Amino acid sequence: MNILGILGSPRIGGNSDVLLSQALAGAKDAGADSVEKIILDRKHISGCKDCKKCKKTGICAVKDDMQEVQKKILDAYAVIHSCPVYFWSMTAQMKAYLDRWCVFFDEEWRWQKIYYPKMRAKRIGLITVCGEPNVQTADPIVHSFKSTADLTKLTWLGAVMASATNKGDITNNEAAIKEAFELGRKAATP
Ligand SMILES: Cc1cc2nc3c(=O)[nH]c(=O)nc-3n(C[C@H](O)[C@H](O)[C@H](O)COP(=O)(O)O)c2cc1C
Repeated sequence: MNILGILGSPRIGGNSDVLLSQALAGAKDAGADSVEKIILDRKHISGCKDCKKCKKTGICAVKDDMQEVQKKILDAYAVIHSCPVYFWSMTAQMKAYLDRWCVFFDEEWRWQKIYYPKMRAKRIGLITVCGEPNVQTADPIVHSFKSTADLTKLTWLGAVMASATNKGDITNNEAAIKEAFELGRKAATP
């Protein structure tokens, strides 16, 4: 069982990175065979072009690092995303990645037949960090991911929402650290 972590922040060692590491540690603790973190900022992932070629072939026409990431999503038991709030929304890196999920769906937003066996039971979770003290500032990010999960009947593991501003400040937030760890445990617990 492999648990995949997707980091949407370009700040390595930053708050969402720290929480994602905690989640992956939780997954290991719960018995995951392996965990892997993908740092989107180190990948070349363009936005979706809405060319609809994938609707016929199940293959994205945009050739970049998303093909490799897509394969890892397919093979993962669960995918945990972690992203800071940038201007009341997700980061550009995370948005480009999420838009490229289009490849998984047919014209009616059902799973493409070739992906259905691996995607139907997929579990996804989310971690958000915002600078504002009110963690609900990240609601738009949660809405994006949870709506995607609801629409496609993915298993929604829940969202950990935390607040911190400076790099690494989140390490002082014991509750958020524990919640992220528990999210990872849940992701790896059948
Ligand atoms: C370009 C940019 C835009 C931001 N916009 C917001 C915002 O709209 N609301 C907010 O609460 N925090 C905002 N922040 C603060 C970050 O969400 C906060 O510093 C967070 O801890 C960064 O997480 P990281 O360390 O994982 O990168 C912004 C930060 C940057 C760099």
